[in-house]
Amino acid sequence: MEKREQLYEGKAKKVFATDDPRFVIVSYKDDATALDGLKKGTIAGKGAVNNRMSNYLMQLLEKNGVRTHYVKELSDRETVVRKLKIVPLEVIIRNISAGHFAQRYGVEEGIVFPEPTIEFSYKNDDLHDPLLNAYHAFALGLATKEEMNWIKETSFKVNEVMKKYFASLGVTLVDFKLEYGKDEDGVLYLADEISPDTCRFWDAKTGEKLDKDRFRRDMGGVEAAYEEMMRRVFG
Ligand code: TMP
Ligand code: ASP
Repeated sequence: MEKREQLYEGKAKKVFATDDPRFVIVSYKDDATALDGLKKGTIAGKGAVNNRMSNYLMQLLEKNGVRTHYVKELSDRETVVRKLKIVPLEVIIRNISAGHFAQRYGVEEGIVFPEPTIEFSYKNDDLHDPLLNAYHAFALGLATKEEMNWIKETSFKVNEVMKKYFASLGVTLVDFKLEYGKDEDGVLYLADEISPDTCRFWDAKTGEKLDKDRFRRDMGGVEAAYEEMMRRVFG
């Protein structure tokens, strides 16, 4: 497959056209933002960790019956994925209280929920990604009711597969964010990335944070945390 012109540059990735209109090439950067884009920086080696880890997880999910955009890893930082129209929703699954959940509801971090929760936010930088529910998404024409149901069921399934997998690596999956997209025929796929940028990972024994919260909260040891997650996944 031939790499063509750049189509888009986001906060953490660039997207390039290919000679096949069904596919694009994603290129992962080391750039990091947080706190609604106010905090900017780089995390050395992050692009490669996120690319490789995300590809591994997408393949694991495919094996478990989840349709994903993944096609082929080209290099440490570049991957061919299906070209999709992203549904402008961030889907967040939580197993344990942390981050905005803890802030919003005034509870400490670390409360293990009796069952996982789901929430949606509207991907819109000008509006700062406001929370919405499935009715709002339908009202705004972002997705049909059937699509919202599929997204919800798929996201909980992704959680079950990932929770079990990360537990086997001695990592607690606290919460994560997913995005979905549609192809030309309107078929939905899991899209974007699954990485320490988009998940909270806590060491199962020590509770040590092994994800982007170290960057968001200026905790230091950011690169080491990404490398540790890479080591757990790839040995
Ligand atoms: P939150 O507690 O800040 O809402 O984050 C929940 C999860 O979603 C956490 O694992 C980080 C991830 N996330 C993103 O990937 N992108 C975002 O823009 C936000 C706000 C959270
Ligand atoms: N929404 C954040 C940003 O400003 C990303 C994050 O905290 O993960 O880019």
